[in-house]
Amino acid sequence: MTLNAKPKLTRAEFGKTPEGAPVQIYTFTNKNGLEARITNYGGIVVSLKTPDRKGAMADIVLGFDTLSGYLTSSSPYFGALIGRYGNRIGHSRFTLDGVEYKLAANNGENSLHGGVHGFNKAVWTPRELPDGGLELTYLSKDGEEGYPGNLRVIVTYHLTDVNELKLDYAAMTDKDTVLNLTNHSYFNLKGGGNGDILDHLVTLNADRFTPVDAGLIPTGELRSVSGTPFDFRKATAVGARIEQNDEQLKLGKGYDHNWVLNKNGTGPSLAARVEEPSSGRVLEVLTDQPGVQFYTGNFLDGTIKGKDGKPFAHRGGLCLETQHFPDSPNKPKFPSTVLKPGQQFHSTTIYRVTTSGASGGR
Ligand code: BGC
Repeated sequence: MTLNAKPKLTRAEFGKTPEGAPVQIYTFTNKNGLEARITNYGGIVVSLKTPDRKGAMADIVLGFDTLSGYLTSSSPYFGALIGRYGNRIGHSRFTLDGVEYKLAANNGENSLHGGVHGFNKAVWTPRELPDGGLELTYLSKDGEEGYPGNLRVIVTYHLTDVNELKLDYAAMTDKDTVLNLTNHSYFNLKGGGNGDILDHLVTLNADRFTPVDAGLIPTGELRSVSGTPFDFRKATAVGARIEQNDEQLKLGKGYDHNWVLNKNGTGPSLAARVEEPSSGRVLEVLTDQPGVQFYTGNFLDGTIKGKDGKPFAHRGGLCLETQHFPDSPNKPKFPSTVLKPGQQFHSTTIYRVTTSGASGGR
């Protein structure tokens, strides 16, 4: 095989939606034997198989073997593309250009992850790209889930030979709108279904986070992580402080917060690093977005059975949702999520998988 061999991309049928729409699943493989499977239903990353430090492969994302698993309402957004607005909008409403827009309240009084029928439930139009990538397109119509403007969204996936799963997001609108696009993969570097992630060592490149109220809506404050259980500037086990008597941890039932990423420059930079000491698997997340929602699977409780029938334990996976800050449409001081006609939205997030050298060390 030549050094620059294109990663392979193959296609298979994955089933039909209840409305009868056929759905495909695409399999990427790279020269190192990594394998990523993506479906055009919700743009879901169905599986991501990576080696441990001895070369043994495991699927490090949570999910299901079949399309029907994802069609049930109990799937907590496993692997999916999230939009039109990732995370929460307070009171399910916002005002733009003097007009108030009302959204579906699907999380108490708030709107979560785009509403009742978010982008995670859409059948996207797939196109295999000449460079070995996969492009998914979706037209979110004016008024869909309450949002203004026809929004065309294009997400492209590449699996590179340097073991990166790269997602590029692009969007255009014909009316002023708001958007916040992300991917909701849950990672367990021991392999999905193999216990919890409390032993995973996490580093977040962030000096501040956005504290929340009881509905998990940011208060608007950008709070220093210094001296708090939210300080992940040095690699720390997820479980080291998660049960501390801390108001913010109690509100989130664990970590379920947005960190304000330290940035210099505009391109993708390191947002997070996760290392699982026993397997040596390491995940690095790079993004050009201003924030990351670090969610520790606090709402998983062992009732959902995934691939091979294995249940997903409480805190059986962690999410690193690269994003704009939650509730930005109602927080004028947060970076703007407004997209206007004539503008092109572009964003890149990279999930890089490697292994650490010696057993238990780095
Ligand atoms: C949210 C959690 C929510 C989860 C959905 C995360 O992005 O922050 O509060 O429960 O998505 O499974």
